[in-house]
Amino acid sequence: MAEAAVPLLSIRGLRKIYGQTVANDHIDLTIAAGEVHALLGENGAGKSTLVKILAGLTRPDGGTLHWRGEPVHLDSPKTARRLGIAVVLQHFALCPGLTVQENLRLAGLDRPDLQRFKTQAARYGLPVPLDSCVMHLSASERQRLELLRCLTQEAQLLVLDEPTAMLGPAESRTFMTLMRQLAAEGRAVVLITHKLQEVLEVADVATVLRRGRVVGRLTDLDAANARDLATMMVGDLPQLQPAPRTPPRQLPALTMHRLSTAAHRDHGVALQELSLTVRRGEILGIAGVAGNGQEELLAVLSGLQRTSPASLLLEDEPCGHLGVAARRTLGLAYVPSDRLGVGTVPSMTLAENVLLTASGMSQLGWVRHGRLAVRTREILAHFHLHQPPQTRLADLSGGMAQRFLVGREISAQPKVLLAAHPTWGVDVRCAQDIIAALLELRAKGCAVVVVSEDLDELFALADRLAVLYRGQLSPAWPMAEVDEHRLAQAMAGLAPTAGIAEHHALAAG
Ligand SMILES: Nc1ncnc2c1ncn2[C@@H]1O[C@H](COP(=O)(O)OP(=O)(O)OP(=O)(O)O)[C@@H](O)[C@H]1O
Ligand SMILES: [Mg+2]
Repeated sequence: MAEAAVPLLSIRGLRKIYGQTVANDHIDLTIAAGEVHALLGENGAGKSTLVKILAGLTRPDGGTLHWRGEPVHLDSPKTARRLGIAVVLQHFALCPGLTVQENLRLAGLDRPDLQRFKTQAARYGLPVPLDSCVMHLSASERQRLELLRCLTQEAQLLVLDEPTAMLGPAESRTFMTLMRQLAAEGRAVVLITHKLQEVLEVADVATVLRRGRVVGRLTDLDAANARDLATMMVGDLPQLQPAPRTPPRQLPALTMHRLSTAAHRDHGVALQELSLTVRRGEILGIAGVAGNGQEELLAVLSGLQRTSPASLLLEDEPCGHLGVAARRTLGLAYVPSDRLGVGTVPSMTLAENVLLTASGMSQLGWVRHGRLAVRTREILAHFHLHQPPQTRLADLSGGMAQRFLVGREISAQPKVLLAAHPTWGVDVRCAQDIIAALLELRAKGCAVVVVSEDLDELFALADRLAVLYRGQLSPAWPMAEVDEHRLAQAMAGLAPTAGIAEHHALAAG
C-alpha cells in the first residue's frame, strides 16, 4: 500500500459511552483500500460498538470520520450505504419469517438489484435459495446472503462482525479465499473474529482493542503467532491444565433408539434411525458440516420437537414425547445455537433470564428474589462478568451474552447437557473457562453432548466423536481412533452409519 495514498476511511478520537461504560475510548484507526484489517479484542472490548457506528446505526459521542479524505457524518444506515460501507452485524439483522427475497427488499434492494444479486451469487460461487424462508437457512447460507447483500450494494468497505463464528472449517476456508479476492479487487475488509488462526491466514493488518481503547497494532502478521495475538487481546493466558480424565461411568444418561424424524416439505433434513448411548461422565462430540441435521437433532433432543416416547431415554425414562419443560425437570439442560432467540429474552434483565429456566426460585407464584440474585451473581462471577444482575441481557456484548447463557445452563447442574458450539463467539480466555467448566460437569457425572462444526472445540472436549451426515450418524469413535482422514471421510458421507449393533453393545456393556 502506497504511504501517500489517501486512506479509504480514517477514524480519529472516536468515543461512545453507554451509561458508566466507555465502549469506544478515543479510537484512531485507518483503513486502506485493498487491505483485510482484523479488529481484535476480548469480549466487551468495543468492537461491535465501532461496527454499529460505521453502519450508521449508533451515533458516536465524539471523534471524526473521514471517507476518502472528506469529513463525513454517518447519521443513518442510508448514509453509510451511499458512501459504500456495508456491514454484517454480529447478530444478523434478518427477519426469520420472511423469504430471502423479502429480506433483500427490506434491506432496500429493488428489482434490478435482485438481478445483480443473482449475478454476484454466480460470480463469487455463493448459492442462496431466494425463495426459502430465512429461518430455514443454515448459518453459512445466512452468512452468504448477508455478504451478497453487501456485494450487491457495491460496497467499497465491508465490515464483518464475527462472520466465521458459525462456520465449519471447510466453509471458513472458502470464506477466507473470498476475503482475499475482495481485497484484491481493491475493496477493504474489516474482519472481526476470535479465531486467531484466521487472522494470521488472511489479514494484512490487525488492530487490538481493550476496554474501548486501541492497545496494539500489527502490520507484519507474517512474523506474528496466535499466542502473541491472544496476549495482546487478553493479557497472559494461563496454560490450561487439563484435569486427568476418569473413564466414563457405565450408566446410560441419554439413549437414542432408532430416533427418526420426517423432513419438512421444503427444507430441513430427516434424521434417520439414530441409535447411540451417552453414558454418565462422558462427553460425546457430534461433528459435521452445518446443515446435515444438527438443528433437527438439537430440536428433537431438547424437546422443541417431540417424537415417539421410547426413541429417546433420559437415564431409563422414555421422554421422546415430552416437551422442553418436562425434560428440564428430568435433568436436561440446553445451550441452543440461537442463543438470543431460544430460551432467553434479550429485553429482560440477567436475573429474569435466570428465572426463566431455574427451578426453586419461586413458590406459590412469588419470586424468591434473594435466591435469584445469589444464583445470578454466581453465574456472573464464574464467567468473569462484572455487570450487576439488573443489567438487560441486550446490553451485554455478544460474547458476554454467550458466556452468561452457557453459564446459566452449566450452573443448573444438569444430568445431561446438550450444547451447540459452546465456545462460539467468546474470547480465548473465556473459551478456556467454558471448556474447564464442561470438564468439571463431566467429572461430576453429567453427560454432555456437544454439537459443533469447530473441530478444535470438539477435540478439546470429547471422549467420543460421531459425525452427522445427511441425517445419519456415524459410529461414535473414541478420540484415540479419530484422525483427520477418518473425519473428513465421514463428513463427506464416506463412513458407515452407526448400526443398531453398536447401540446394543453399549447398552449391554
Ligand atoms: N446498548 C448498550 N447499552 C449499554 N451498554 C452497551 C450497549 N451496547 C454495548 N454495551 C457495552 O459496551 C461494551 C462494549 O460492547 P461491544 O458489543 O462493543 O463489545 P465487543 O468488543 O463487540 O465484544 P464481543 O466480543 O463480546 O462481541 C460492553 O461493556 C457492553 O456491555
Ligand atoms: Mg461484538
